[in-house]
Amino acid sequence: MPAPANTRVTIPRPDDWHLHLRDGSALNAVVADTARRFARAIVMPNLKPPVTTVEQAAQYRDRIEAALAQRIADGTLSANASFTPLMTLYLTPATTPAIVREAKASGFIYGIKLYPAGATTNSEAGVNSLDAMHPVFETMEREGLVLQIHGEVTNPDVDVFDREAEFIERQLIPIVQRFPGLRIVLEHITTKDAADYVASAPNTIASTITPQHLLMNRNALFTGGIRPHHYCLPVLKREVHRQALLRAATGDSPKFFIGTDSAPHARHTKENACGCAGIYSSHGGIEFYAEAFDSVDRLTEPDGTTRRFEDFMSRNGPAFYQLPVNTETVTIEKTETPVPAAFTFGDDELVPLRAGENLGWRLLP
Ligand code: NCD
Ligand code: ZN
Repeated sequence: MPAPANTRVTIPRPDDWHLHLRDGSALNAVVADTARRFARAIVMPNLKPPVTTVEQAAQYRDRIEAALAQRIADGTLSANASFTPLMTLYLTPATTPAIVREAKASGFIYGIKLYPAGATTNSEAGVNSLDAMHPVFETMEREGLVLQIHGEVTNPDVDVFDREAEFIERQLIPIVQRFPGLRIVLEHITTKDAADYVASAPNTIASTITPQHLLMNRNALFTGGIRPHHYCLPVLKREVHRQALLRAATGDSPKFFIGTDSAPHARHTKENACGCAGIYSSHGGIEFYAEAFDSVDRLTEPDGTTRRFEDFMSRNGPAFYQLPVNTETVTIEKTETPVPAAFTFGDDELVPLRAGENLGWRLLP
């Protein structure tokens, strides 16, 4: 039986293992939602221009710290809020083994993100040929730096709903075979194919799963008309895939963990004849997952603990990234909590997931 109203759940403070914080006024607008909930987040490097050097990553990290300080100063965040951005570099054809070594030595870069060129928002600078990147992968393997992958082929001949499965067969499996020591996160998986592959792959391979792919199937793109705010990449899939992702997230494998892929875009760029991909979910970054687990009665175990929810939210990610589990806790309560129709987003507006509706859970202060 799903948890009754007002049930409270306390877990070790989670981290968000896949997050888009953007820059400038957009960064300022969204950073507090994440910092309130999470201790750390893997910050995606797909800015314009992308974050490709250690120096750029250091400067981006400084801008994130400054935005946090500003939100503490204006009272949006409490003075004792502590949040650590875990930085990443964007893999381009110009990335070299020397950059990989420098990234590892920096101590604040936790991975390098592979975007197949053209696969998603701001991926133009990504790579076309994975073969050419082998020296980089080899150095990452040796240095112990994680490769984060947007796993979709970009071939226009391949149906958009099949691009993840094709990527696994054609691109990922050869890399895994060739670099057995390289730790890889297949980001934001959306299919049963991906869940099955990752579950059976070597321990060097793990996956993040977003809240939208646990809570919605592709019908959500077309409910009563076209719904641009439900469009993200990889695109939502059929119900059979959502069910497989739910089983993976709520199961016993340590290879699956939270990564919201919260990806804010200004309202007018989504409500557009050619709308951007990306869903904003940081305002419910823990709450949405609680709802997903509760929907299949996996929030609490028969013994009354929340073991599997904690594993997915708070333990599996740190274990894969070889970081300690956070010692603080967060508590959520099962209470209908309204989501505004929009947030301020610099000079624009941001329409969040569930805009104008309710979250099923509330984060206690
Ligand atoms: C992301 C973005 O907007 O940066 N969009 C998305 O739909 N997920 C990029 C990405 O992670 O693919
Ligand atoms: Zn992303």
